[in-house]
Amino acid sequence: MRPRISHPTRSNKLVPYLAFIVFSAIFVFKLDVFIAQTISTARNYQESTTRDKNLISPPAAIENGTFHRHFIISWGEHRARILDGGELLTLSLDKISGSGFQSRKQFLFGKIDMQIKLVPGNSAGTVTTYYMMSQISSEGDFHDEIDFEFLGNSSGNPYTLHTNVFSQGKGEREQQFFLWFDPTADFHTYSIVWNPKNIIFFVDNIPIREFKNTEKLGVPFPKDQPMRIYSSLWNADDWATQHGRVKTNWTLAPFTAAYRNYSSDGCIWSRDTRTSSCSADDFSTKNVLKMELDRRSRMNMKRLQRKHMVYDYCRDKWRFPRGPGRECRVN
Ligand SMILES: *[C@@H]1O[C@H](CO)[C@@H](O)[C@H](O)[C@H]1NC(C)=O
Ligand SMILES: *[C@@H]1O[C@H](CO)[C@@H](O)[C@H](O)[C@H]1NC(C)=O
Ligand SMILES: *[C@@H]1O[C@H](CO)[C@@H](O)[C@H](O)[C@H]1NC(C)=O
Ligand SMILES: *[C@@H]1O[C@H](CO)[C@@H](O)[C@H](O)[C@H]1NC(C)=O
Repeated sequence: MRPRISHPTRSNKLVPYLAFIVFSAIFVFKLDVFIAQTISTARNYQESTTRDKNLISPPAAIENGTFHRHFIISWGEHRARILDGGELLTLSLDKISGSGFQSRKQFLFGKIDMQIKLVPGNSAGTVTTYYMMSQISSEGDFHDEIDFEFLGNSSGNPYTLHTNVFSQGKGEREQQFFLWFDPTADFHTYSIVWNPKNIIFFVDNIPIREFKNTEKLGVPFPKDQPMRIYSSLWNADDWATQHGRVKTNWTLAPFTAAYRNYSSDGCIWSRDTRTSSCSADDFSTKNVLKMELDRRSRMNMKRLQRKHMVYDYCRDKWRFPRGPGRECRVN
């Protein structure tokens, strides 16, 4: 199909085709850059966290609120605040820095819920992340990670909810959605269920994505490394909004996102004793540790995906010309 440029008699007719090919190439390149950068966002943040010497740990003995008990502000200093007796947390972003927090505890399976209200108005260039991640070893990157990321947009345009799953350091499993509500008008609940059978992403208790354990097909599944919860708000206007074309309007700073009503149910990992708080019995009795979607929920989820999913790596023949990951056969 490729037109031959050297053919003199046809060259005029070829101009529109060539223009189209050049345009497509630029588009695909931009998309690749965008996706690649999206993949690395959470990890970049983690690296900056470990480098941050100013870990602010609130005095746990005095403060009793949910956010005091479960999280520490990991960067951004005064830009992250715990309010309302510990029941509300806000992150903000200004021209100098973003901010973030992380859980005190590590988990090895369970369900986590958080209500988040995203940066309102013109949030172009901002990225709010909410994810679980294991530690990156100095011997190489074999980390596990489960991501929600919210890519801001200019006023009146939809946020993109970006999801991804890493196992043993390998990601490239992005699925993106436009939400069916305005995530800045009110708090909405974003949940992750993670157990040995699967990972399920929920929005307001509605499943939007599942990632099944397909070790049978040779695909590593996150099940051996405990993960911490992380969240951050930062600037990524070089790629986030409409592939970097729309920049952050700093006259509107600070940008603020709010968190409340955190809850978790699962297995706490003890770093000192290297043991989990869950027994083998818990995995056959506790709902969150054996939860899977039934046929009906899966059908509803597929219907929702047809309507609201805007990117699916399993269908991206440009990025994966040799076919998508084997897990796509069942997910
Ligand atoms: C935390 O709880 C202790 C004991 O119940 C109480 O004395 C203290 O005032 C509480 N602190 C805050 C900040 O609520
Ligand atoms: C922002 O809105 C535009 C126009 O509706 C859309 O194409 C884009 O995917 C949205 N999201 C981001 C992150 O740019
Ligand atoms: C940035 O926001 C301000 C305040 O709303 C507005 O006056 C200005 O036009 C915006 N700048 C751009 C480049 O959109
Ligand atoms: C907080 O979350 C729980 C479930 O974890 C839910 O039952 C409750 O309604 C939520 N509270 C608010 C104010 O939304």
